[in-house]
Amino acid sequence: MKIIRNPEAFQKEMRSLRSRGKRIGFVPTMGALHAGHSALVKAALRQNDRVAVSIFVNPSQFGPQEDLSRYPRPFRRDAALLKNAGAHFLFAPSAAGIYPAGYTLCVDELKQPGLTDRLCGKNRPGHFRGVMTVCAKLFNLAQPSAVYFGQKDYQQSVVIETMLREFHWGIRFYRIPTVREADGLALSSRNIYLSGEERKRACALSRSLFFLQGELCRRRKDLPGLLRRARRMLAASFDKVDYLEIVDPETLESLVRPQAEMTALGAAFLGKTRLIDNVIIRLPK
Ligand code: PAJ
Repeated sequence: MKIIRNPEAFQKEMRSLRSRGKRIGFVPTMGALHAGHSALVKAALRQNDRVAVSIFVNPSQFGPQEDLSRYPRPFRRDAALLKNAGAHFLFAPSAAGIYPAGYTLCVDELKQPGLTDRLCGKNRPGHFRGVMTVCAKLFNLAQPSAVYFGQKDYQQSVVIETMLREFHWGIRFYRIPTVREADGLALSSRNIYLSGEERKRACALSRSLFFLQGELCRRRKDLPGLLRRARRMLAASFDKVDYLEIVDPETLESLVRPQAEMTALGAAFLGKTRLIDNVIIRLPK
C-alpha cells in the first residue's frame, strides 16, 4: 500500500491510474479505523481495480466546542488495518494541504429548511458545510469511479449523494450497511471515549431504534406514541437526548404517519460523548 501525503502527488497518481483504464474506488475517512471502515474498503475492492482511502481529521466540520483536538489519530494502526484490508493507496494530507492559508470557498446548501439544517445539522451548525467542502476537495483530487459511505452516518450519506447528483460529478455512490457490536452498538471511532459503565448503557440507542422498527413492522400506526416510548427508553440510559426521529429516507423530513420506507435516527450523549445511529424501516407488503 502506498502512502501519499501531498495532494498534488495523490491527484497525479490517481490520474495516471485512470489513464491506464483502472477503476478507482474511494473511501474518505477521519481515521481511528474499525471494522465499519473495513467494510467500506471491502465493498470498494469488489467493484474496482484500485482502492484509495483518505485519512483526514477535517477541522471545518467540527464546532468550536467539539472534539477536534482529542479526536483519536492512531496513524500506524490505521495504516496496518488498511494494508490488511487490501487498500492500494492511503492519502493522508495535512490541514494546510487541504486548506491552504487564506482559503475562502466552501460548499453549502441554499435550501432552508433543507437536508443540512435538521437532525445533526440543528445542533451542529456548519457541520455539513464542512463535510461537503472537504468531500468536494477529496473527490476532485481522487476523481474516482465510485465512492463508499456508511449508513451509520445516514444524514451525511444523503447529503453527499445529493451533492454528487446536483453537481453532475458522474461518480457512483454506495451506502454500506452499519457494522455493529454483538449487543447492537454501532461501531464508531468515538466509542473509545466511553467508560466501561457508559459502554454498557450505550446499546440503548440501537435498542430504541430497533424497537421502533419492530413495532412499525408489526403495523403499529401511532407514530408519535411510539416515538414517545422510544425516547423514554433512550433517556433512561443516556445522559442527554439530542433527537430521536422517524423521517422520509430521501428528504429527511419528520413523519407523523408511517409510510412504506422510513428511517429512524437518533443522537444522544453519554457524558461528553455524542453517539448517533439509525435503522432503515421497510414495512412488509
Ligand atoms: P468517519 O467518521 O471516519 O467515517 C468514514 C466513513 O465510515 C463514513 O462513510 C461512515 O459512515 C463510515 N462508518 C463509520 N462507522 C461505520 C460503521 N459502524 N459501519 C459502516 N460504516 C461506518 O464520516 C466521516 O469520517 C467524515 O465526515 C468524512 C466523510 C470522512 C468527511 O470528513
